[in-house]
Amino acid sequence: MSRAVVLGGTGLIGRATARRLLAVGWDVTVVGRDSSRMPEDMAIAGARFVAADRAPAIGAGADLVVDCLCFTAAHARELLPLLDDVGSTVMISSKAVYVDAVGNHVNSAVAPSFDGPIRESQPTMAPRGDIDYRTRDGYGAGKVAAERVLLDSGYPVTVLRPSKVHGEGSVKPGEWVFVKRVADRREVLLLSRGGRGVDHPSAAVNVAALIETVAENPGRRVLNCADPDAPDALAISRTVAKHLGHRWEEVLLDDHAPAGLGRHPWDRLPGIRLDMTAAGRLGYRPVGDYATTVIAELDWLASTDRLPPAFDHEYFAPMLNYTAEDDYLATR
Ligand SMILES: NC(=O)c1ccc[n+]([C@@H]2O[C@H](COP(=O)([O-])OP(=O)(O)OC[C@H]3O[C@@H](n4cnc5c(N)ncnc54)[C@H](OP(=O)(O)O)[C@@H]3O)[C@@H](O)[C@H]2O)c1
Repeated sequence: MSRAVVLGGTGLIGRATARRLLAVGWDVTVVGRDSSRMPEDMAIAGARFVAADRAPAIGAGADLVVDCLCFTAAHARELLPLLDDVGSTVMISSKAVYVDAVGNHVNSAVAPSFDGPIRESQPTMAPRGDIDYRTRDGYGAGKVAAERVLLDSGYPVTVLRPSKVHGEGSVKPGEWVFVKRVADRREVLLLSRGGRGVDHPSAAVNVAALIETVAENPGRRVLNCADPDAPDALAISRTVAKHLGHRWEEVLLDDHAPAGLGRHPWDRLPGIRLDMTAAGRLGYRPVGDYATTVIAELDWLASTDRLPPAFDHEYFAPMLNYTAEDDYLATR
């Protein structure tokens, strides 16, 4: 039986990966700090939970190690002593590493402008280890530093760069801005910039599909990791409303609308899309398109009476400012 260790295995990408591997007969160990985040279905399917703070050494001798917790060069160096003895290693990086022609990235003060779908050969931020990886400037730079340590090691490490990840168990599910409105029976939906913004979605189950492909094809490489399609915010809002059986009037705001109104998580123009050619060549077959794969998250969000303790309410608050919306609508 093949053995996998997933660091951060109780989180969004980790649990999708564990479930996929368990379903095809792998022996799976997941590492997290809090056992209460371990989904019951995973335990029933045979996953072992190990409570630890990162602890990559637990991966020694595994056929596959998936590191969902690698943010810095120091984290990457912790993995190196194991790699003689691991069949295939996957480090989860991010599209946040990419810079446009003038050096802007998705977390910079000025939004980036990429020429088209981003390929893995697109320039990245410079690696840095001198700023906190939990900051806007530190996140992408820390990921690049970690990627370089692993790729320069010569071991079969595959770096995956997902985009905006969706799935069951997310603590920052973008679709919440629409699901919450359905729950609150809002009759009007305001969308900034006409809802034309695009930020390529990456279903956690599609990330997991690519991880299984990499497990079967160990190698040293970088791969983008996103859904087969990249719907804009308007299309996403319609997918959510249709699935939850809700109707609202769409108010598509233009650039003259008051600042802050109609905010949503996909407000990127020009849109951000990842080129998925390289993953396809390796044999990646996504589970489904955005509308198909997002259903599990929508059903979870709509049915749960308790969001995860780490849920990022602060991030969503400005996007759910009903008072400002109602004031605006009253003056139309
Ligand atoms: N989510 C996205 O949209 C996105 C996009 C691009 C890239 N990524 C990258 O994908 C990776 C995984 O992200 P995710 O969204 O799946 O994360 P997540 O949902 O926040 O899950 C992280 C998991 O790791 C566990 N964990 C956190 N710190 C730990 C530690 N020190 N030791 C052991 N376990 C720890 C957490 O559980 P406990 O807190 O209980 O330990 C949690 O289960 C990250 O590297 C992130 O940068 C994410």
